[in-house]
Amino acid sequence: MKIPGRNPWKRLPSGPLIAPSLLACDLAWVGEQIDEAIAAGADVLHVDVMDAHFVPNLSMGPAFVASIRKYTDHPIDVHLMVTDPAYHVEQFAEAGADSITFHIEAADQPHRLIDRLHELGLGAGVTLKPATPAGAIARVAGAIDIALVMTVEPGYSGQEFLPGMLDKIAAVRRMLREEQRLEVDGGITPGTGSECAGRGADVFVAGADIFDSGDIAEAVHHLKVATKGPDALG
Ligand code: DX5
Ligand code: ZN
Repeated sequence: MKIPGRNPWKRLPSGPLIAPSLLACDLAWVGEQIDEAIAAGADVLHVDVMDAHFVPNLSMGPAFVASIRKYTDHPIDVHLMVTDPAYHVEQFAEAGADSITFHIEAADQPHRLIDRLHELGLGAGVTLKPATPAGAIARVAGAIDIALVMTVEPGYSGQEFLPGMLDKIAAVRRMLREEQRLEVDGGITPGTGSECAGRGADVFVAGADIFDSGDIAEAVHHLKVATKGPDALG
């Protein structure tokens, strides 16, 4: 199966992108909540896939992605928190994911997996848990479309941002070319998002800040403004 041109990181505009994490939405109202976030300027829909092995929690699978795919053309960014990412990529590609990010800690052959994602026409990302040093992705950094620095321990929405990750964000940025994206995920708010933007992050995943806020549109708007940085605001 090859679906050319799906890779969202090449076609979305440069500059900060907001990626609501659907893990934190009210699943009974997911369509309405997606509409609200997109209308407010959300750029990418972030889907957290957990297998209760790589992380303690169990979450959504390919059927969820297929439902969202039928509902909207907006880019779907799948974050695989599973022990065997290679086993799952075809299913998520068929379900309609546009990009898949896997954990470097879980991949036996990361280069091969990145090549497979590109063959499938998808964006390819690698991510690191908080305890994993930036150098762990050095070998594959040249081949990816996006690096994701976890700013909480993966597994749950609603955790506190880990400020110790700011240096890692800067270190990962130095490994990437300008057009490669740098995503942060976990405890992102306008305040922490702005700090990450200052270290070179340009894709901001947010769950609780958006969906537990009581006003999805306002939360997306605040994140957009805060992550634009002083240059873009002037
Ligand atoms: C955590 C997930 C995140 C999570 C973020 O394992 O990868 O995407 O949903 O949620 P917040 O923004 O609430 O920390
Ligand atoms: Zn995530």
